[in-house]
Amino acid sequence: MAPTIGELAVGVDRLGTHVGGAMPIADDTAVIPHTARLLSGKPLADKVFAEVADRVSRLRRAGVVPALATVLVGDDDASAGYIRIKQRQAAELNFESPHTHLPADATQEDLHRVIAGYNADPGVHGLLVQYPVPAHLDYDRALQSVDPDKDVDGMHPLNIGRLALGLPGPLPCTPAGIEALLAHYDIPVAGREVVILGRGATLGRPLSIMLAQKRPTANAAVTVVHTGVPDWDRYTRRADILVAAAGVPGIIQPEHVKPGAVVIGAGVRYEGRRLLPDVDESCAEVASAITPRVGGVGPTTVAMLFRNAVDAAERLSGRA
Ligand SMILES: NC(=O)c1ccc[n+]([C@@H]2O[C@H](COP(=O)([O-])OP(=O)(O)OC[C@H]3O[C@@H](n4cnc5c(N)ncnc54)[C@H](OP(=O)(O)O)[C@@H]3O)[C@@H](O)[C@H]2O)c1
Repeated sequence: MAPTIGELAVGVDRLGTHVGGAMPIADDTAVIPHTARLLSGKPLADKVFAEVADRVSRLRRAGVVPALATVLVGDDDASAGYIRIKQRQAAELNFESPHTHLPADATQEDLHRVIAGYNADPGVHGLLVQYPVPAHLDYDRALQSVDPDKDVDGMHPLNIGRLALGLPGPLPCTPAGIEALLAHYDIPVAGREVVILGRGATLGRPLSIMLAQKRPTANAAVTVVHTGVPDWDRYTRRADILVAAAGVPGIIQPEHVKPGAVVIGAGVRYEGRRLLPDVDESCAEVASAITPRVGGVGPTTVAMLFRNAVDAAERLSGRA
């Protein structure tokens, strides 16, 4: 089975012993390896979970039982793993987590029927349909049928529209986690040059919108590069903050990174159980700060999901 979000959340990598600090300098004649500060996602995730747990308690005291429903179609091991992690986290935060598991041969109509049921249920505040669904189903159509106010992934077209217009709404979890991670480590973003490798709908595109918006934790000069820009490294090499969001293992090597830059590795690919990140670990020798191979943006993504869920519960119960 492929590693799950939970494994991402608790994992450490071979750089894990150097969290938050540079390597010690033995003596002034030694070769001094530079190792970047590690931007672990767990401290931020723990902080967000504590805040969410408080808000859930307040809702329960007011007679509202926050509920995050999940829908899984088929028998993909990795997807089932992701759902288990979310349910475990929901239980820890005192959410109810109704769940529907449809068989791999479920029809689009079966899926829409389940979604419509959760949409109509006033006791359900958040709803997520685990991606991917079997190939014969249309995930985008399913997503469009989710009530936008229950869309904890922040990926419903209405919510992406709200994001683009700067209107309040649930934010896509991975990009929101990246902005929050930079803020958590006091990394200035405003006025800096951010380069994002990848313009995918879940990551690069919404992140580029967010980091260009006018607020203290964003307000950057953002450039997005992709396969249409063959000399993309010309841009990444000048980035103060480089975000890898391509899903191409090892695409970012030290020579693509400006010395002293901050590197956020969000793109990953799985080969069986192995997680293969976009950012080669040797980039830690060039960057000033970098997310660990495991446990960087994974934990913050889950944290943002539950922040969206408690926001939805407060909003839909009239206690926002
Ligand atoms: N850690 C997490 O919690 C988390 C959450 C969400 C996503 N992710 C990961 O983030 C990555 C991106 O997700 P996504 O849904 O946005 O993916 P996507 O839709 O597949 O987008 C990938 C982007 O990378 C670009 N790209 C691919 N190969 C490239 C190359 N050789 N040179 C330059 N650009 C290249 C593509 O360019 P074109 O547009 O030109 O094709 C595309 O814009 C994936 O690895 C995904 O697994 C991680």
